[in-house]
Amino acid sequence: MHRSVAKLALLLATVIFSVAAAHARQLQLAHAAGASCLPHERDALLAFKQAGNDTYDFLASWQRRHKDCCRWRGVTCSNETGHVIELDIGVTFLEGKISPSLLSLEHLEYLNLNNTNLLGPDGTSLFPEILCSLSNLRHLDLSGTRFSGRLPAQLANLSNLEYLDLSETSLHGPNGRAPEFLPRKNLRHLDLSGTQFSWRVSPQLFNLSKLEYLDLSHTSMSGILPPQLGNLSNLRHLSLGFMQDIHTSDISWLTHLHFLEYVDMSNINLSRADVFLVANTIPSLKALILISCALPNADQSLTQVNLTKLEQLYLSGNYLGHRIETCWFWNLTSIKDLELESTYLYGPFPDALGGMISLQRMNFNYNGNSATMTVDLKNLCDLETLLLDRSLAFVNLTDFVMKLPQCSSNKLKMLSSNHNNMAGVLPDMVGHFTSLKSLYLYNNSITGAIPTGLVNCTSLRTVALGLNQLSGQIPTLPRSLTQVDLSMNSLSGPLPSDFGAPDLTVLSLSSNYITGHVPSPICKLQNLVFLDLSQNRFEGEFPRCSSMPNLIFVHLSNNNFSGNFPPFLQNCSQLTFLDLAMNGFDGALPVWIGDLVNLRFVQLNHNMFYGDIPANITSLVLLQLFSLASNNISGSIASSLSKLIGMTLKHLPRSEPQWFEFTGSTDEMLPVDILSVVMKQQELKFRGAAFTDIVSIDLSLNYLTGELPDDITSLNGLLSLNLSWNHLSQKIPAKIGDMKSLESLDLSRNNISGEIPTSLLDLTYLSSLDLSYNNLAGRIPTGRQLDTLYAEDPSMYDGNSHLCGLPVQRNCSGNSPPEHGNHQRSENAYEPVMFFYIGLASGFVVGLWLVFCAFLFKRAWRHAYFRLFDKLCDKVYVFVVVTWGRINTKATAS
Ligand SMILES: *[C@@H]1O[C@H](CO)[C@@H](O)[C@H](O)[C@H]1NC(C)=O
Ligand SMILES: *[C@@H]1O[C@H](CO)[C@@H](O)[C@H](O)[C@H]1NC(C)=O
Ligand SMILES: *[C@@H]1O[C@H](CO)[C@@H](O)[C@H](O)[C@H]1NC(C)=O
Ligand SMILES: *[C@@H]1O[C@H](CO)[C@@H](O)[C@H](O)[C@H]1NC(C)=O
Ligand SMILES: *[C@@H]1O[C@H](CO)[C@@H](O)[C@H](O)[C@H]1NC(C)=O
Ligand SMILES: *[C@@H]1O[C@H](CO)[C@@H](O)[C@H](O)[C@H]1NC(C)=O
Ligand SMILES: *[C@@H]1O[C@H](CO)[C@@H](O)[C@H](O)[C@H]1NC(C)=O
Ligand SMILES: *[C@@H]1O[C@H](CO)[C@@H](O)[C@H](O)[C@H]1NC(C)=O
Ligand SMILES: *[C@@H]1O[C@H](CO)[C@@H](O)[C@H](O)[C@H]1NC(C)=O
Repeated sequence: MHRSVAKLALLLATVIFSVAAAHARQLQLAHAAGASCLPHERDALLAFKQAGNDTYDFLASWQRRHKDCCRWRGVTCSNETGHVIELDIGVTFLEGKISPSLLSLEHLEYLNLNNTNLLGPDGTSLFPEILCSLSNLRHLDLSGTRFSGRLPAQLANLSNLEYLDLSETSLHGPNGRAPEFLPRKNLRHLDLSGTQFSWRVSPQLFNLSKLEYLDLSHTSMSGILPPQLGNLSNLRHLSLGFMQDIHTSDISWLTHLHFLEYVDMSNINLSRADVFLVANTIPSLKALILISCALPNADQSLTQVNLTKLEQLYLSGNYLGHRIETCWFWNLTSIKDLELESTYLYGPFPDALGGMISLQRMNFNYNGNSATMTVDLKNLCDLETLLLDRSLAFVNLTDFVMKLPQCSSNKLKMLSSNHNNMAGVLPDMVGHFTSLKSLYLYNNSITGAIPTGLVNCTSLRTVALGLNQLSGQIPTLPRSLTQVDLSMNSLSGPLPSDFGAPDLTVLSLSSNYITGHVPSPICKLQNLVFLDLSQNRFEGEFPRCSSMPNLIFVHLSNNNFSGNFPPFLQNCSQLTFLDLAMNGFDGALPVWIGDLVNLRFVQLNHNMFYGDIPANITSLVLLQLFSLASNNISGSIASSLSKLIGMTLKHLPRSEPQWFEFTGSTDEMLPVDILSVVMKQQELKFRGAAFTDIVSIDLSLNYLTGELPDDITSLNGLLSLNLSWNHLSQKIPAKIGDMKSLESLDLSRNNISGEIPTSLLDLTYLSSLDLSYNNLAGRIPTGRQLDTLYAEDPSMYDGNSHLCGLPVQRNCSGNSPPEHGNHQRSENAYEPVMFFYIGLASGFVVGLWLVFCAFLFKRAWRHAYFRLFDKLCDKVYVFVVVTWGRINTKATAS
């Protein structure tokens, strides 16, 4: 018994020993071979993984059964000692906590946690102090992490640190004092860009003799740039752009930085700093970034330009305002990337541009349309991007295209020349640009046909040729296209039977003279999001597509479409905007319209729809614009209107619809033609997303009967309610005063009886009221805005023989003879052409300008970047003039 136990023990011991020995041998072997890992470090790594949350499985290889942790993803061990020395798990989106087990990796030299979502061991986003104990650390990258708050002073203990990147975090320095925290001795790379650091820039800050890379851009630092920066003699990269409030008048210290390759001083006022003379003494410079530096000019005559390595030159946002050719940099053939946006340079481009053979990208947007470009660019074989929006005075497009790079491997990817007075035809040879992805020529004077050669641009994804004078038929388009804007031209003839571009998401053909049926291959455009065929001469039924599930925006107004409410819309559950106005659609409105729950804007006016308003319409809880005006709708108004909560104030603020994903270089260029909405007895025109805030119901000119349901008064976000020219009867709801947002109320030409509720006086925003030609009786409420409105429009109570009171100067106690109003429906006045003129005459000028301004400011705020107000005004002007002309032409033509 004892013996066998002893034997067993011996056996076990032997086994254990031999396993251990083998393991040790294995380890040694592995070490010798340069890869293995120490068990306690493996455990530490596993504990690290355990504490985190590896949602995306980046650390899938971190498994106990994969013994050699040196081969795990992101782990590197030392060849000599086998210790883990590098941990690189940047961009893994790891979540959870950093495990204190990290401290076991005491030989760690390199730690990259960039763009992870880790928190400290304590579960907070405070800087994890345990990192300060990794005393061998040389490289620490925490950029884009969630860490915030104050850095601990112990960070200075990391005396071996050479590389520190805290960019794009919410970290800031200890006690807002000078940066004692920095481990100075060995630091070569310091990136604090986009952090919350807010010191005054002090000389001590730059007492870092080995520093090669310094990025303080987009921080809240302030003060005067100290000349001690010039002591950082090893500096190669200096980025000081867009700091809070930095001043300097003397940057001569830059001349001491003999290795400097990259300098960014954007948004620092350098108006008196002679920056180009200084820069010219640093021949090592590769990038000079001086955006919005208040530079007065760039026409220094540098006797000898030293900057032969310069690749990147950004001078955008400086009002240089002199002739283009006098700039000092045109002879620098090393330049690859040139930004001159909003510099207001003018005159001809110099021929030297044609010799800048390294040029890959030139941004000359927004320079005020006074430059000319006749330079031969044939030899710029590397040119990928050329941006000239709103900068050229006049260009012959044909000549211009002929002079674009014509190299065997053509790299041109993006050409943008919007708002430029480009005239002439787009030549067929545009098909040579087989790399071209985006072609923007919006708002020019391009004539002729769209060249058939375009189909050979096999990389083309976006084409914007809107607002030109293109004529002829639309040819087959390149297969690669996803976004097309050909709106506001004079294109005619039918659409090609095959679009040839199955991946289209945006198709805007509005305001042309396109005729015929929409060909059924349009149904193949399964990715279509935005479809605008408005203001053309399309006819017949829209093809019965089975589904186009991604449609958000459908604008078919002002055509001759006929047939029922288009059945293909039934499955468009994303549909937000639907405008079928001014067509010949007929039939009943489908009940399934209630399933299109994302609908916000619905215009069906001026068609021949008949039958009831489907009760299911009240399922459209986002609905804010609904017009059925001038149809043959009968029946009564549903009483469950209170369900339309999109028309209540509770629903504010409304988001801007997101269908304008047209990724042009100019955000003002939207593939959206004007939307017209009748409000306040005038036609208001909106462009882009300006109509986001409209809340309106228009059921005028129909055959509605019954009462005006009380429920309608719960729609207190409604700005405009028009029920005129119907057969509505009974009373105006007493609580009409609850519709606090109402600016326009038109109940004229019905059979409404009873008194005018005094609560009408509560509608303080009311600026248009029409109650004429009803059977209203009793005393007219007076006071506040009602008196003003009456003064402006004395006819607003006309044709109500039993009304009395001050405004109509009929004594309420007395018996006055009933007045005979003219109840004839004069629908002719609302026929499309006349309708236009009425709108134009009364509302166009005032309404349009107001709406435009609001819209433009809004967008300008969102995207403002060197966009000045006068440019916007230019645009409004151009747009108004062009539109005005176009509408006039159309109206007279038809
Ligand atoms: C990990 O993340 C997933 C998804 O974010 C979450 O459902 C889960 O609860 C998380 N687990 C832990 C341990 O935090
Ligand atoms: C380790 O050795 C391998 C092969 O000899 C070599 O490729 C690698 O660069 C070395 N790694 C380190 C960190 O020295
Ligand atoms: C983040 O880490 C990734 C992966 O290690 C690396 O490629 C990238 O350059 C790092 N980014 C920054 C901003 O440090
Ligand atoms: C950092 O160094 C200081 C002395 O310079 C020492 O008192 C402190 O304990 C160190 N902190 C850490 C976390 O090692
Ligand atoms: C060009 O650089 C050299 C060397 O830094 C300098 O001596 C010379 O003055 C510079 N030339 C000009 C025009 O600044
Ligand atoms: C630039 O080149 C043009 C012609 O090639 C020459 O006339 C001019 O002097 C050059 N300018 C400089 C500053 O080198
Ligand atoms: C543009 O140039 C071409 C060829 O040089 C010429 O035929 C055409 O008339 C010009 N067009 C305009 C509008 O000037
Ligand atoms: C498109 O390119 C092909 C092949 O290079 C050529 O044969 C054809 O004529 C081009 N088409 C047009 C319309 O230019
Ligand atoms: C219309 O609404 C009614 C009741 O609200 C509902 O039963 C019916 O399913 C809806 N029909 C459609 C097609 O949405």
